[in-house]
Amino acid sequence: MKNYKRYLVTAALPYANGPVHIGHMAGVYIPADIYVRFQRARKKDIKFVCGSDEHGVPITIRAMKEGISPQQVVDKYHALIKDSFERMEISFDIYSRTSSPIHHQTASDFFKKLYDKGLFEEKETEQFFDEKANLFLADRYITGTCPVCGNTRAYGDQCENCGSSLSPDMLINPRSTLSEAIPIKKKTRHWYFPLQDYESWLREWILQEHKEWKPNVYGQCKSWLDNGLQSRAMTRDGNWGIQVPLPGAEGKVLYVWFDAPIGYISATKELLPNWKEYWCREDTKLIHFIGKDNIVFHCIIFPSMLKAHGDFVLPDSVPANEFLNIEGEKVSTSRNWAVWVHEYLKDFPGCEDILRYVLCSNAPETKDNDFTWKDFQEKNNSELVAIFGNFVNRTMVLMHKLCGGKVPVLHASALDESDRAIMKAIQTTPLLVSEALEEYKFRDALFSVIDLARKGNKYLQEKEPWKKTTLTETVENEKSKAAKEDIDNCLHLCLQLTANLAILIHPFLPATAKKLLHILKVVDKILEWENAGKLNLLSVGYSLRAPELLFRKIEDKEINVQIEKLKHGLIQSDADVAPITGQNSGKEAPDLKTEIVYEDFSKIDLRIGTIVSAEKVEKADKLLKLLIDLGNEHRTIVSGIALHFSPEQIKGKQVVVVANLAPRKMRGIQSDGMILMAEDKDGKLHFVSPELLINPGSTVN
Ligand code: MF3
Ligand code: ZN
Repeated sequence: MKNYKRYLVTAALPYANGPVHIGHMAGVYIPADIYVRFQRARKKDIKFVCGSDEHGVPITIRAMKEGISPQQVVDKYHALIKDSFERMEISFDIYSRTSSPIHHQTASDFFKKLYDKGLFEEKETEQFFDEKANLFLADRYITGTCPVCGNTRAYGDQCENCGSSLSPDMLINPRSTLSEAIPIKKKTRHWYFPLQDYESWLREWILQEHKEWKPNVYGQCKSWLDNGLQSRAMTRDGNWGIQVPLPGAEGKVLYVWFDAPIGYISATKELLPNWKEYWCREDTKLIHFIGKDNIVFHCIIFPSMLKAHGDFVLPDSVPANEFLNIEGEKVSTSRNWAVWVHEYLKDFPGCEDILRYVLCSNAPETKDNDFTWKDFQEKNNSELVAIFGNFVNRTMVLMHKLCGGKVPVLHASALDESDRAIMKAIQTTPLLVSEALEEYKFRDALFSVIDLARKGNKYLQEKEPWKKTTLTETVENEKSKAAKEDIDNCLHLCLQLTANLAILIHPFLPATAKKLLHILKVVDKILEWENAGKLNLLSVGYSLRAPELLFRKIEDKEINVQIEKLKHGLIQSDADVAPITGQNSGKEAPDLKTEIVYEDFSKIDLRIGTIVSAEKVEKADKLLKLLIDLGNEHRTIVSGIALHFSPEQIKGKQVVVVANLAPRKMRGIQSDGMILMAEDKDGKLHFVSPELLINPGSTVN
């Protein structure tokens, strides 16, 4: 093993096109934060950098959909994400962003340097272009039929049904997901980075020199390398991003996966004048914490870029985690199947440590894992409350009751077997924890801490100091002296154990550690790791505060609310559209609504639209997702007509659209307007259309 002098820890820059959810936390930010806090406690020279990833096509598209600028999109989510991290006590030394000038400069210089070294291939190729949206289409934005399994909704880069890696050329019947247009091929010129040139070096570096990488990471790298690497375009057509710093490259920006990882360097630059010490020296231990979907970028592409550049250190490790599912299902942000961190913080104020605990003890370290609310409650109530909290609370209550609120003496001559066993446990646990943390085994490490508290409880249960008090209070004799010594020893050790728990739990649950320091009336310095395992952290006679509850119970009704909320995110849409799903069946026409004036009516903008395409919405049997041509734009409208019409039936039909209705989300899909339908007395729906086809966008007055 190398002799490292300093650490640089990075956590994947989250895309600023949405909030962060607990899967992000469990996979990346909580383990990274635990690791960093642990190394800080060991007085290591360490920096922890992160920031928002603010470029890339998803942000442009989100902006288009919301009718705001990309800058407004990233401003909004950058602030929200940053706040979630702060409140979860993720202790970045800096949380920057890739739209910052320093990053633009750094990424631009990086590109220029590789260009000047002649390391790019310039190629003109034909790429898919959406004429309606006037955009070149990234692979993700093309869908079509998978040539391998026949799934009609495969993406241009991958089929989520069979897992095949695809390219848009392989899709049968390709369509743009933005406008449903059939993409055309258009020539464009880009700069490619020849990854194949780095293949043999990568093989040596990863497959030989980094056999210790986590099996999931090593395995993915090996399979990429075995499949052979190819040149990859490092530039894209577009305006949102970092301009390609070359003459004649207007309208071209750096590929987001080229610029984003350089964000780690820019953030360090922004943080420190001596940033080069961290980035340009061999004795820096660089560690990238990421999720499994980022492995190829952090293990193959970015290291090759760094190698090509030549000035920078390479990662020592990339401890990527797998994914966290929710209640047995894959997280889907589009379907709103996720637990959002900012919402958790609102619903469970003051319970940040509970979430940190559950996500760490359940982290998807070696395989995908499941988060359930029931398990969240269970882990809190039966581990944090019943083991850790209970031990600390009993210790504090008993020492106030039996020892007058002061740390009692340790009578060395009176130590028995179980005293010695608990002393040994206190002394040996820190090594178990630190060895696990060094190997990125966060679950094991946390388990060892809780196990020490569990042993403390068992010890108290065996010793039963509360039963011995009657002896000490009556006559002064040998027997009562022994009982008194036994009580003293027991509580002395329990208190030393409590102080040790503060140190050991601190990387995992920082707020809990602070509460413990307060109760024990000791200063932060005690949290230094070298103190872990010591049996003299609290001095004899020192008076301590009254106990305080560390954790609260989570009640059934709280988690039921959360389960409902998750499900509601999915079915909300069905309720939204109830009025046109046949509620009048078999009834007379309803009473007239209250009278309105012309001004009221004139606020409604009605237009004729043509249904370009329709598809069923997953898990919502009443909903169809329609794409409607309104003349100068295409709109997505979610409508509750799926029980009445099949998607094939209604393609090409014209409808009346309420065109200025505020957007709303149904099943995670934004619906920009609504279509009008007539409903007969049997609850059957009928189209309200012009007699003949007319131009889409025509007004209805
Ligand atoms: N934004 C990417 C994601 O969320 C991660 C970027 S990591 C970086 O998957 F290295 F590129 F910054
Ligand atoms: Zn497939």
